[in-house]
Amino acid sequence: MILMSIENRIGPPVEGKDFYGRKKELEIANRLLDSGHSLLLSAPRRIGKSSLAKRLIEDKKAQGWKCVYIDLEQTTTEDGFLNLIIEHFERNHIWRQITDGMLQGAKAILDRINKISIGPVGLDLSSPEKKEDLYKSLKELIRHDEETFIVVDELTLFLGVLLRSDGGEEKVSFILNWLRSLRQVAGTRVRWLFCGSVGLKNFTASLNLSYAINDLTDFRLDELTPEEARGLMKGLCQGEGMDMDEESIIYALEKLHWNIPYFIQILFSKLRDNYTGAVSKEDIDTAYRQLCSESYLNTWSERLVEYREMERPARLILNGLSARKSGLRRETLLGILMTGQDPSHAGETDLLLSKVLEMLENDGYLLRKGSVRSFRSPLLRDYWYGKFVQ
Ligand SMILES: Nc1ncnc2c1ncn2[C@@H]1O[C@H](COP(=O)(O)OP(=O)(O)OP(=O)(O)O)[C@@H](O)[C@H]1O
Ligand SMILES: [Mg+2]
Repeated sequence: MILMSIENRIGPPVEGKDFYGRKKELEIANRLLDSGHSLLLSAPRRIGKSSLAKRLIEDKKAQGWKCVYIDLEQTTTEDGFLNLIIEHFERNHIWRQITDGMLQGAKAILDRINKISIGPVGLDLSSPEKKEDLYKSLKELIRHDEETFIVVDELTLFLGVLLRSDGGEEKVSFILNWLRSLRQVAGTRVRWLFCGSVGLKNFTASLNLSYAINDLTDFRLDELTPEEARGLMKGLCQGEGMDMDEESIIYALEKLHWNIPYFIQILFSKLRDNYTGAVSKEDIDTAYRQLCSESYLNTWSERLVEYREMERPARLILNGLSARKSGLRRETLLGILMTGQDPSHAGETDLLLSKVLEMLENDGYLLRKGSVRSFRSPLLRDYWYGKFVQ
């Protein structure tokens, strides 16, 4: 095997030669896209969704497809959503040219889109009729006759924010239905990939909107294969000219247990900062301990804000589980949530527990074996214990 050198990147999605592995996933995703499927990638935080999406864009560009990457984390409003779409579609030539048969409203909008370099397109969403017309015109304007790949990142996050705004439920439903209608244009050659860190499925189900995404093919992303995990660690060492033998690499990966690229990258960055010569097991233990007490993993705590009224029970559960390597049974977790509560709330709390556990599983915090839940990642567990319990 040729040893690749990979640069240590922690935070933003990795691109180009810093993207490592995911061979199988890329193969499957490419095959699905080629055969006309649109995909839903809803996977835990920091798994590498955006990186994979960007890599797929590189693949498709190389095949001559038009590609668009829209990150909805940049906006919180419907107007912002539409302007992002308009701008990115304009930049990547997804809009049609004006033709004679085109609807008057669509023509007028296209006229404004063509002048987008001057500033954002003013959109009139003031009445339901105007809004309907606008979305209809935009739909009419999209080219469907060329191979096109559109990635919409952080869809769930955006819809969650939108839901909390005035008339949120209707806005969310409108957008999901509109996106669905775009995928249903006969003979379309446009394929979509939607990414979200929180379960979009739970979200749509709770709003009775499951049908609006049921044409999407589920796409899963999890930890790296053992070979890829080793390859990533080796490549990073190579990039820094560091000496870390096979045994130490295996020791480090076993210590992480859940080998998502992000955890490998942050552990590596500590090893590099402390490096004085061939990496030893003690060096790995030290780096691991440092990670537990630093801020790299804060995002796992911060993102719990998205759980809203379920944030508190989620934290109680995580606190309880962080003290127990082997995990806890569901009854025990229910007991934790019931502490100090009136026994008459037991039914309600039981339901809440089910919801919270499902979300924590979906988001990669927890693992379930029968009725026992435990932290999926020892690193996250030790971090959590040190930060919130000890
Ligand atoms: N294929 C990869 N090769 C190397 N490093 C990777 C890869 N995928 C992810 N990473 C590492 O994980 C980090 C997070 O990746 P990325 O932003 O793609 O994840 P994400 O799932 O989109 O995260 P979020 O849930 O925060 O949006 C990167 O900064 C990088 O350190
Ligand atoms: Mg991302």
